[in-house]
Amino acid sequence: MNTLKLSNGVEIPHIGCGTYPIFGDQLTQTIKNAYHCGYRLIDTADNYYNEEDLGNSLEELYSEIGNIRKELFLVTKISDELYRQDDITPGMNRGIYFWKNSPYMQSSSACHDIVCKKVEDSLKYLKTDYIDLLLMHRPYPDFFEEIWYEMEQLYKKGKVRAIGLCNSYERHLDKLIKSGSIVPMVNQIETSPLNTKESLISYYESKNVRTMVYSPLQSLKNIEEKKYQDYLDSLAFKYDKNKGQIILRYHIQRGLIPIPKSINPKRLALNISVFDFSLTPNEISTLSGFNKNKQYLPESKGCPGF
Ligand SMILES: NC(=O)c1ccc[n+]([C@@H]2O[C@H](COP(=O)([O-])OP(=O)(O)OC[C@H]3O[C@@H](n4cnc5c(N)ncnc54)[C@H](OP(=O)(O)O)[C@@H]3O)[C@@H](O)[C@H]2O)c1
Repeated sequence: MNTLKLSNGVEIPHIGCGTYPIFGDQLTQTIKNAYHCGYRLIDTADNYYNEEDLGNSLEELYSEIGNIRKELFLVTKISDELYRQDDITPGMNRGIYFWKNSPYMQSSSACHDIVCKKVEDSLKYLKTDYIDLLLMHRPYPDFFEEIWYEMEQLYKKGKVRAIGLCNSYERHLDKLIKSGSIVPMVNQIETSPLNTKESLISYYESKNVRTMVYSPLQSLKNIEEKKYQDYLDSLAFKYDKNKGQIILRYHIQRGLIPIPKSINPKRLALNISVFDFSLTPNEISTLSGFNKNKQYLPESKGCPGF
């Protein structure tokens, strides 16, 4: 498996396996297939509600091939949503942690208690005693620095091997560089040839923060961008690959870590077969030239102007 180094020296696989929305037996089959075709990084989150299924899937994998936990790189996230359906207090909506007015956030230890509980739950569900990378799912404005502080403590205690952000901009990183004691190691964002985010990625790179790419294949579905699709077709023909592989290779050559999701065993295998060819610098820049700042998923949705 090709790996990169994080700023703290931890090695991270250069590609990973997304798991949302995959549950139950389908997740078990996907995890087994993913492992056998070479994936070692698995991405989940507390609010995907599949950590327990993922833990069960891993247990089944270990029972077949031995406990290979150390070979794996498990990524999970801290979200503002209530963790479990059965946690929901009658009359309350989901999505209420980490907001000043949330009734759950009124005590001075609320942030500490919630972050610790979420991570303890993740460890239990994933059947492990450490997480490789813990991410804050969004830069929650009311408690951004407090959540980060708690993540730092978990890192210092060795419960997590690396910590980072998702959906964050320059200002979020600047804030933590000023107020925190650890600079995030990763920022997980959406980017594609139609949304290159060059200055954001370079800024994070300049602070030694790796960029992980979620929804790395979404631009494949944008059939209105005919010239883009035709160009992908021409590269796919030239390299005897499919268009998804061309896009994943583009991310990899930009030094990013894509985490494509597929429940289809063939696509899963093809998506990781992207280390045996290289796009030319000219092809990379032609792909980037299709940039239109096209964002597929809302990000920092709850954090306007922060
Ligand atoms: N941090 C965040 O805020 C955040 C947000 C969104 C997602 N994520 C993470 O990122 C992961 C990936 O993102 P995503 O699932 O939104 O998008 P994605 O991986 O770009 O695309 C997944 C979709 O593309 C299909 N697909 C997979 N490989 C393909 C290929 N080679 N050719 C054509 N279609 C292909 C999949 O269908 P099949 O399954 O049928 O193959 C699925 O419908 C998620 O699973 C999750 O772990 C994080």
